[in-house]
Amino acid sequence: MTDVSSKGPDRGDDREVLTNRQGHPVYDNQNQRTVGPRGPATLENYQFLEKISHFDRERIPERVVHARGTTAFGFFEAYGAWGDEPISRYTRAKLFQDKGKRTDVAVRFSTVIGGRDSSEAARDPRGFAVKFYTEDGNWDLVGNNLAVFFIRDAIKFPDVIHALKPDPVTFRQEPNRIFDFMSQTPESTHMLVNLFSPRGIPADYRHMQGFGVNTYKWVNEAGDTVLVKYHWMPKAGVRSMTEADAAAVQAHELGHATRDLRESIGRGEYPEWELLVQIMSDAEHAELDFDPLDDTKVWPENEFPPRPVGRLVLDRTVGNDFAENEQIAFGTGVLVDGLDFSDDKMLVGRTFSYSDTQRYRVGPNYLQLPVNQAKNARVRTNQRDGAMTYYVDQGGGNPHVNYEPSITGGLREGQYPTHDEQGPPIEGRLTRKRIPRTNDYVQAGQRYLLMQDWERDDLVHNLVTQLSQCERPIQERMVWHFLLAEDELGLRVGEGLGIGPGDVAHLPPLASQDLTEEDRKRLENLG
Ligand code: HEM
Repeated sequence: MTDVSSKGPDRGDDREVLTNRQGHPVYDNQNQRTVGPRGPATLENYQFLEKISHFDRERIPERVVHARGTTAFGFFEAYGAWGDEPISRYTRAKLFQDKGKRTDVAVRFSTVIGGRDSSEAARDPRGFAVKFYTEDGNWDLVGNNLAVFFIRDAIKFPDVIHALKPDPVTFRQEPNRIFDFMSQTPESTHMLVNLFSPRGIPADYRHMQGFGVNTYKWVNEAGDTVLVKYHWMPKAGVRSMTEADAAAVQAHELGHATRDLRESIGRGEYPEWELLVQIMSDAEHAELDFDPLDDTKVWPENEFPPRPVGRLVLDRTVGNDFAENEQIAFGTGVLVDGLDFSDDKMLVGRTFSYSDTQRYRVGPNYLQLPVNQAKNARVRTNQRDGAMTYYVDQGGGNPHVNYEPSITGGLREGQYPTHDEQGPPIEGRLTRKRIPRTNDYVQAGQRYLLMQDWERDDLVHNLVTQLSQCERPIQERMVWHFLLAEDELGLRVGEGLGIGPGDVAHLPPLASQDLTEEDRKRLENLG
């Protein structure tokens, strides 16, 4: 029999004694219970079975995208107005109204494609997801660092991710698969010009921008709506890495960005971002050469100046990575009063996908976990049961009434803060069509021209390196896209691959696109 008196506090060790989750003290954590010192083991060995079977279930499915990431906590502080124009003119969302008002936040930064332990120096978009724990419930702003995205319709998301993830046979990320898909997806050109530039490998998480990417709406007290885009600007400036810089980092460390964030916060150097919004009237805007609901486009800043609305400060890191980073759950459907969706076709698809995957990945009661709870609002629902119900979030004083309506107690519906109607009327016939103003190349070309020389050189080098590993028809179609975006970009990438404009000018437009007469002429002239 184990001599209890020789262990724990009785040995002059004042640490707390280990127990199992039934509260039973563990007297021997080194030896299983066996028949005699050499075995066999017994099946009623509850302590051992509890320990090993919990261990067997320690992993939950990792996120299908954005598996590698890190979370930190802090606050958002509102500015309340632009000069003498109060923000309430555009939104009634409470968190923005009063100068100096602080709201608790959690922010998760991530890479997209790699698994949970993959390199943080990979060329990959970075996720920038912010959870605001407001008094009206939670608001999640789930964005990235590159301002745009590869596709504009959510129905293509599984395809773009399959192309970017490792090959299902070789389990290697294959440039040929990536550019096979991209070459048939002209709307990805703008994103590719960003991703293969140095911005595609941020130096760390503290020195990168964030963008909401999709178009949302703001709603004011009168029910008037405007379209908005969100931007996070790091106070510390933007820093990126070249392929060579990244190779040097990941030669000795895969998690440098998580470490950098933790160390910086640990030193009391709290990273800070300013939140700015671009505002556009809630209309189709036929005068623009792009659709304001198209997430492959940015809004020109001279026409739609970003206006500062507040600042974000991160001052605490996670106490436990699994509880607060692995189980945190963001989604684009998580909005508060005064904020709304636009009809952006990516946004609606995303909004279904996030909570769907979280019910599978974490479980149906994922919103009861402390990191996901609407901790600054009161939660009272008629939702009950399901795996891992943590508590009953009832209210209304009568525990028998978990339904509504009722005259015997329970919860009642609230009243709309102001109106139950908002925004312009919508009309149309059910259809499956791409948006009319696709304009896939102009902004990609403008982005190239805005880069500094070294960034352009790096972009061309990275594209040529990747495309060299692709089949010739894929190379040709990519050169065709880059020529349509900007002559110099297409000529330089083509030169690196031994493909001249004359080799590609004859290619027919893709079934999924309308080539303008102007584009057609440009290609012919170059050829
Ligand atoms: C994570 C779906 C587009 C940013 C995820 C996850 C899914 C998903 C299923 C995993 C969530 C989880 O397991 O908790 C989609 C779909 C999209 C889409 C269906 C398009 C239709 C985008 C875009 C952005 C974005 C355009 C950037 C603006 C993120 C971020 C995360 C994420 C930041 C990680 C959130 C976290 O840190 O937990 N997405 N996504 N996604 N997505 Fe998307």
